[in-house]
Amino acid sequence: MTSPAPLLSDSTFLAACRREPVTRHPVWFMRQAGRSLPEYRALREGISMLDSCARPDLVTEITLQPVRRYGVDAAILYSDIVVPLKAIGVDLDIVPGVGPVVAQPFSSMGDLDRLPDLTVADVPYVDQAIRQLVAELGSTPLIGFAGAPYTLASYLIEGGPSKNHERTKALMYGDPVLWHALLDRLAGIAGAFLRVQAQAGASAVQLFDSWVGALPLADYRALVAPHSARALAAVADLGVPRIHFGVGTGELLAAMGEAGAEVVGVDFRVPLDVASARIGPARAVQGNLDPALLFAPTEVLEQRVLATVEAGRATPGHIFNLGHGVPPNADPGALQRVVDLVHSAEVGAGD
Ligand code: CP3
Repeated sequence: MTSPAPLLSDSTFLAACRREPVTRHPVWFMRQAGRSLPEYRALREGISMLDSCARPDLVTEITLQPVRRYGVDAAILYSDIVVPLKAIGVDLDIVPGVGPVVAQPFSSMGDLDRLPDLTVADVPYVDQAIRQLVAELGSTPLIGFAGAPYTLASYLIEGGPSKNHERTKALMYGDPVLWHALLDRLAGIAGAFLRVQAQAGASAVQLFDSWVGALPLADYRALVAPHSARALAAVADLGVPRIHFGVGTGELLAAMGEAGAEVVGVDFRVPLDVASARIGPARAVQGNLDPALLFAPTEVLEQRVLATVEAGRATPGHIFNLGHGVPPNADPGALQRVVDLVHSAEVGAGD
């Protein structure tokens, strides 16, 4: 007798997000699609990042590549946090080796006119790609995502990637009225983009506030968290688990949890049991192997993977991931070892 085909409702990833028991530890990687895969580099040859994001055929294929190769427990849509901004007309590009670059950086109230509301008509290719992907993925859930208001604002104000966020902070501290107006717009756009993806069939969403670790807790609570909460609230009625992630956010973890997501992503600086104690029992955690360990000797990598699984046992739900994205020069073989080891790790009574 053949066993019945697995269903989306059997997903260990979704169970862990909901803090339900799992039969196997779920694992996926931020930036699992991308330059670390030769099959990705081959497909992207001669096509710019943003052009590739607007082609449902390519989005579907690139999103599926790591799922096929590694057997990870979730797919993440191939797109970028600046795709919705580009879609509503902001003049920007993604420069290889640099990141998003904005032609005219934002600095005044008048600039807000360049941020109209986003609707599905602005991103038909995302809607189409997700519908195609959900059909192809079957029992594997698809994660949709958006950039959080702070991280998006940092690119718009700095005009590109920035180490210390001086312009962003100067505007945030110097002109709080403009700051709140800007983050309010971005929260609306991020929320709408998450909603488009969930309504097209994404099973979970992740809000990336990658650079918010640049802020002290009190400023995060006063100047950022309410806007992130509004972006997350835009999909609250759709029943999809929400993940909220940032880098260097050890001091912010509790406040990030309070912004409303069911899962808090943790970077590699705080052990998962410590992070979970800060976040509280009402939320699952995701993370947090240091991506640099992918370059360490195999025994060291394996020992750290098992230590991460072990720390995850002290949390109410754990999704294994890296503490940040897969580096472009990572060895796919190392990632495969991580997936296989996480999957073979014993599931304890507390998991
Ligand atoms: O596999 C996945 O995780 C899904 C795809 C994804 C991309 N970007 C594809 C991408 C996701 C989730 C993102 C989110 C994103 N984009 C974030 C948040 C996540 C994080 O890493 O903190 C941020 C900050 C960005 C902005 C951005 N876009 C950066 C910093 C870069 C890298 C620039 C470079 O070339 O080093 C990009 C470009 C980008 N986004 C690439 C990919 C696969 C590489 C571009 C290429 O292959 O040419």
